[in-house]
This record gives sequence, C-alpha cells and structure tokens, in this order.
Amino acid sequence: MNRDKVCGAIRESDINTTITIAGWVFRRRDHGGLIFIDLRDRSGICQVVFSPDVSGDAHEKAHDLRAEYVIAVSGEIRRRPAGTENPNLPTGMCEMYVKELVVLNEAAPLPYSMEEAAEAGEALRLKHRYLDLRRPEMQQNMITRHRASKLMRDYLDDSGFLEIETPMLTKSTPEGARDYLVPSRLNPGYFYALPQSPQLFKQILMVAGMEKYFQIVKCFRDEDLRADRQPEFTQVDLEMSFVDRKDVIELIEGMMKKLFKGVLHIDIQTPFEMLSYQESMERFGNDKPDMRFGLELKDMADLAAKGTFKVFLDAIQSGGLVKAINGKGMAGISRKDIDLLTQEAQSYGAKGLAWIKVKNGFESPIAKFFPEDVMKAMAERLGAEDGDMMLFVADKVKVTYDVLSRLRLELGKRLNLIQPGYKFVWITDFPLLEWDDDEVRFQAMHHPFTSPLDEDIEKMMSGDMTDRNMLGSLKAKAYDIVLNGFEIGGGSIRIHNQKLQKKMFELLNINEEDARTKFGFLLDALQYGAPPHGGLALGLDRLVMLMVGATSIRDVIAFPKTQKAFCMMSGAPSAVETKQLRELHIKTDVVVEEKA
Ligand code: AMO
Ligand code: AMP
Repeated sequence: MNRDKVCGAIRESDINTTITIAGWVFRRRDHGGLIFIDLRDRSGICQVVFSPDVSGDAHEKAHDLRAEYVIAVSGEIRRRPAGTENPNLPTGMCEMYVKELVVLNEAAPLPYSMEEAAEAGEALRLKHRYLDLRRPEMQQNMITRHRASKLMRDYLDDSGFLEIETPMLTKSTPEGARDYLVPSRLNPGYFYALPQSPQLFKQILMVAGMEKYFQIVKCFRDEDLRADRQPEFTQVDLEMSFVDRKDVIELIEGMMKKLFKGVLHIDIQTPFEMLSYQESMERFGNDKPDMRFGLELKDMADLAAKGTFKVFLDAIQSGGLVKAINGKGMAGISRKDIDLLTQEAQSYGAKGLAWIKVKNGFESPIAKFFPEDVMKAMAERLGAEDGDMMLFVADKVKVTYDVLSRLRLELGKRLNLIQPGYKFVWITDFPLLEWDDDEVRFQAMHHPFTSPLDEDIEKMMSGDMTDRNMLGSLKAKAYDIVLNGFEIGGGSIRIHNQKLQKKMFELLNINEEDARTKFGFLLDALQYGAPPHGGLALGLDRLVMLMVGATSIRDVIAFPKTQKAFCMMSGAPSAVETKQLRELHIKTDVVVEEKA
C-alpha cells in the first residue's frame, strides 16, 4: 500500500474520498467497539477509526497495535460527528474509517512513553535519540533549522557569495580554545587539528580573489561545555573583500530580517542598536546584554565616596568599582530572602551584597554610613521609588561586572521584566588586546588578524610599547551580534597590511618564528596582494535555539553530546583496538574501559 497523502494534510475537502495514509501509532484508545488511533507522520496527526461494521478483519488486527508500530491504512475520510471535532488539530474536522490495515513494522516496548518524553530525562532521550527526534516538537526544531539554513544560503547566494569548503584535517586555528587533534598515520608523531573555525582559510580565499565566501560549516572546540556550547557546532561563516565594518553589519542585518520574516513571519526592525564594548560593560556588566529589559547597572562610586562604609571605600581606593541595580518592588522581601540573594551573589563571586530598602525613607544595615541626601541621590540615580530595594556590589572591576550582570539576569526573570520578542544588538569597539595575568603578556581579544580602529593605528605603530594603559586602550574593528543575551555571532575587519600585522605579533609577544610555525601559510599569502577584507561567523545552533524558544542548543542539534562531550547514542568517544593505536604510533598511559 503506497500512501496517497501525508497524515497532517487531511482536510475537509478530502471527505468522502478513499485514500491510503501511513505512519506511526501515536496514541491508541481502545473502546472495545471503536478503536481510535492517532496516526503520526512528519506532517502531523490524523485520527483513524476501526469499527466492527466498516473495518472487518482490520478491526480484529487493530487490537494488537502497540505504540510506535508502523502501519498503512486505507479507508474513507469522513466528517467527525458533531461535538467530537478537535479544533486544535489542522486535521481535526476529519477522521478515516479504516477498511484495510497493513502492519509495516512492529516496535519493541518503548523505553519511555512518547507522550511523557519531556519528563523522561535527557540521558534517556539522548540514548534513544531516534525516538526523541520523532516527537513533533523535535521534528519542528529540525524543520526550523533546515528552513533557517536554506534561507541564509539563498540570501548569501543572492548577494553574490560563493559557498566554498575548507579542510577539516588542518592546522590549529587561532580561536583560542583547545584543539581536537587527529593523528596522522602517514606522518607518525604528527597531528592534524580539526578546525575551531575556517578563519585562516577564509582569509586566504580573499587573497585568492574569491571576494565573497560563505560556508555552513562544522567547527570543533575542546572547551568546557554549557547549554549554549557543544564540542562540535555549526557556523554560518563568511568573509568579504573591499569592505569595512558597516558593510558586514548591513549584510547581516539584511540576512536577519529575511530569516525572521521567512521562518517566523516576524518583522525585525533594522538597523539594530549598537553599543560600544565599554558602554555595554558599564550599563549591563557584560558584552552580551539581554536588551529585552532595563535593570541597568549604575555607577555609585562618587556617592559611595561621600559615606563612611569601609567596604565601599576600600573598593574605590584599590581601583575597583561600586555599582548598583534597582530591585524593583523588592522592599517587601524578608531577611531570609535577602540572605538567599546574598548567597547567590556570593556564588557568582561577590564578597557580599549590600542593600538599601526605599520604604518611607531608607532601611538598611549600612544606612548609618550615609547622610540622607546621599541615599536620596543614590535612589534618584537608580530610579528607585518607594517599595524598591537598591542592591550594591563593591569589588574589583571584573568581579563587580560579573556578579551584577548575573544578578540582573536573575532578577529580570524573577521580577518578570523580560519582554517577549527578539532584541538584537551589535557590540563594537572591543579592546584590541587583553592583558593575560598568567602569561604576563597581552592576548588578542578576538584573534591576531583583527584590525585596530583607523584612529588607533598611529598610536599602535609609534606609541610606547611598555605603556600598558595605552595598549589596553587600543580598540579593534571587531563586532559581535547579540540576540536576547546570547552572542550569536562575531567577526572583524582583518589586518591586510604586513607592517601592521608584524606590529600586532610584536605586541602579542609572538616572535617571528612562532608566527611562522603557527600561521606561516596565511602570512605567506598576505604578501601577495591581499585585498582589504573582513567577515563574521554566526553560531547557527544558538540562533536556531532562540528562534524555536529552546533553552539548550542540544534541542536543535540532531545528535548532540552531553556536558562530558559524550554521545549517549553511539557511545563516542570509545576505546579503540591496540592495533589501531600501533598503526598510529600512539601509546596511552591510561587503561580504559568501554563507557556505559
Ligand atoms: P567566534 O569564536 O566568535 O568567531 O565564533 C562565532 C560564533 O560561533 C558560536 N560558537 C559556538 N556555538 C556553539 N558551541 C560552541 N562551542 C561555540 N563557540 C562559538 C557563537 C559565536 O558567536 N573565526 C571567527 C569569526 C570571524 O572572525 O569571522 C570565529 O570563529 O555564536
Ligand atoms: P559587613 O560589614 O560584612 O557586615 O557587611 C555589611 C553589608 O555589606 C552586608 O549586607 C554584606 O553582604 C555587604 N557586603 C560585604 N562585602 C560587600 C561587597 N564587597 N560589596 C557589596 N556588599 C558587600
């Protein structure tokens, strides 16, 4: 029996026709007389009915159907009796009265019921990923991901981009995570690195005159995993010649507009808001601000200096910060809840959390350290009114930002301040260099090929190389695109001038020999007429996660790995045969057992 239609496409116009459909047995209600089955395929669900009168033998056989059996049924599409329609289903006006049933395949008893899959626990779902992917929500996620890739691919094609593949077995790239290494049998003792991104190759494609490149490409990074980080993930990676920042930004804004319209039927307003890195840090405490709500950080150092609270004064004295946010409507919370909030701040790295309630005046254990008018000025700066609670953190710059940005997000959720919808923001003017205390040298904040701002080139080329403040103040032509508090992409305009590139390596304390071993092939290429160029890479997994409203990128990746980079379904990574290792000239000093 070949199917005539997909289950989800049955409509009232099919009533009185006799057709064949096929799929999986989703729900089954056996009333002894009538047996109802929700038959599911990728397109949706159609109710099929087995009745003793109409279905004959098929009715007998239907008693034996179990969850996830694969069947084909043919019969007449009828209007559901009045009162039994299901307005929640597109097929809900109709049902099929089965005349013939073929069991195409049986299914073993399921490890968990499909209807309770969401509660089954992620480990079990990942182990039986084929069942998990059968669920309508997961199928929808895969469909959205496909649609998104297709739309972006078409957009880039329309804009004159070429999709060009770059190698997976390659040399280490400079994205800064740990590499996944692959041993070379033909070159014993040598290793390939799986690409953390196609960065070097896409720049070389610009030298090669391709002008506009893109690739939807797997990238590999051996880093600590989180809800929005997988060891292998997908970038929509692109690079363009003869452009500056605004060109890349406009291209991406156009792409997002098209993407959200095409997939979600939402009109996205462009241009997106743009914040400098510094402004983002000062107002939100991080470089990926969720712009769907306020609760901004305010600097309190000048006011704190007018009081006598030692914690605040010490922080200022030692070059740190005193910043605060307004806990809207929180003046009513109990001492116990304040203690819990304080513990939370401490778990983010704070030493404590100072607070002042605005409640017919000011109520706080630290009120005694401040004149009334100073607290009034604090409240005014934070927009704190009667019923609110001001929350302060005083610490080193990094700790203060870290704690308050996380507290801001947490309170945003708890106080229900986060507006639904999509809020994009560009973060620009990142520092070019970042001081690394452990290595006692500067690191490139983005990567060593990122161009400084035009106005900083002079300083960089001829300034005092021992002046850490000056070097720390150099800004890069780098940009990140942030959506609802997630960094969904980043890129930069690259250095195409060799003198500037040399200087950059000098600042990073990478000597010529190191530079040659690491990036020699790019440096070679850059000598032969490199056009001005720049680009960006979007994290496809994160973007799709946000589009479908999931909370983890695992929900939009067909076969993801766990926090320990383990594939529950295939059992990778696994032990290998000694013979394989011998061929690769590899000896390990650990005895491994097969993982459960
Ligand atoms: P970057 O390192 O910022 O830039 O990566 C680009 C985007 O990829 C996503 N991303 C990840 N997604 C899931 N799991 C991960 N482990 C992971 N790591 C990164 C993020 C990020 O914004 N070559 C440069 C781009 C360029 O300069 O053109 C690069 O790779 O959404
Ligand atoms: P203490 O003087 O230690 O009793 O602290 C008084 C208040 O200041 C308490 O609410 C502490 O949680 C808070 N506090 C302590 N250290 C800090 C800090 N570094 N930043 C903000 N508040 C702090």
